[in-house]
Amino acid sequence: MKDEFLPLFEPFDLTSGVQLRNRIVMAPMTHTASHLDGSVSEVEINYYVRRARGIGMLITGSASVMANGGFPGSATADRDELIPGLRNLASAVRSVGAKAVLQIAHGGHKCPPSIDDIVGPSSVPEPKEGAIVPRELTAEEIPGMIRAFGEATRRAIEAGFDGVEIHGANGFLIQQFYSPHTNRRDDEWGGSRQNRMRFPLEVVDEVRRVVELHAKPSFIVGYRITPEEAETPGITMDDTLALVQALVLKKLDYLHISQTDMWSGSQRANGDTRPCIEIIKEHAGNLPIIGVGSIRTAENAAHALQAGVPLIALGRELIMDPEWLKKIAQGREEDIKTKLAKTDQLQLEIPDSLWGVIMRMPGWFPFETEA
Ligand SMILES: Cc1cc2nc3c(=O)[nH]c(=O)nc-3n(C[C@H](O)[C@H](O)[C@H](O)COP(=O)(O)O)c2cc1C
Repeated sequence: MKDEFLPLFEPFDLTSGVQLRNRIVMAPMTHTASHLDGSVSEVEINYYVRRARGIGMLITGSASVMANGGFPGSATADRDELIPGLRNLASAVRSVGAKAVLQIAHGGHKCPPSIDDIVGPSSVPEPKEGAIVPRELTAEEIPGMIRAFGEATRRAIEAGFDGVEIHGANGFLIQQFYSPHTNRRDDEWGGSRQNRMRFPLEVVDEVRRVVELHAKPSFIVGYRITPEEAETPGITMDDTLALVQALVLKKLDYLHISQTDMWSGSQRANGDTRPCIEIIKEHAGNLPIIGVGSIRTAENAAHALQAGVPLIALGRELIMDPEWLKKIAQGREEDIKTKLAKTDQLQLEIPDSLWGVIMRMPGWFPFETEA
């Protein structure tokens, strides 16, 4: 292995006491290959295990905490009968040495029309054609929604996961509450920044309460954010930094900054156009950051570490090349695949459902035939 890549293989100690064997994390990616009742399938276990070999930590695709919070075929953690399947998944990932983290989520207004009762903080639909207008959650329902995140955490603990990641990013329900675009409430859950932050922070508190009650102290709790929204009003860097400051005071193991390109410059930080991740890092104190987004090569990852981002998540890259880290360890980083071929599905063990989505969305994944 080349010396310049050695830092990728340095272990990392999380606050909870868990040691990750290296700095590479698999980013959460919905594959829609679970069974339609939400239970874990053999196909998804094989897909995950292939990619977990060698890396430090694997975060699953978003697992819905409630029946009306997910997508057909996506992971689910909304009822106890799903625990045995989740246990198979956690133990398979752990058996190859990676820490297994379940991403817990509710899609809110992003859920598909097949869901009968689409809900959100307010009746603001997703900004896309034909989007369904969600039903505004009543103030009486909100505590139940928060408890659902706690219950999903308990299931993750019982299933033997090493931790959970709270999905506060990508326009999912938790972000919908924080966003002044999607949260138009005038009760204690909306309006001022403090009120909009109440739901995200109460979810964190509930998850921690359950962890302290049911898990070993070393159970990992991470939080994922999207730094900025395009809409006005919408989440600005000021909003994000206020949330980060509040999250720093909670007992979290990491803050995961969800971006398509890790080095995207801020669009909404009062003229500060530095990369969002750099601005956030300045305010995150001792809370470790996971950076993600278009890290393709060993050089890209080594550069991110050098720039002070301690953990690097790979999404599409691990789909395209499950042996990404192994190739670097063997000094074969030149062989890393950064493009898919139309014939790759079987040998990369990409589930049919995920392959179908990739093929239907040109431009999302780079293909060999493209320039
Ligand atoms: C197929 C696919 C599914 C995804 N599903 C999720 C998800 O369930 N939860 C989430 O937070 N992000 C999800 N993402 C976003 C990724 O975690 C990641 O942030 C994004 O792909 C950018 O990283 P990359 O350039 O390494 O792929 C998904 C991305 C892909 C490609």
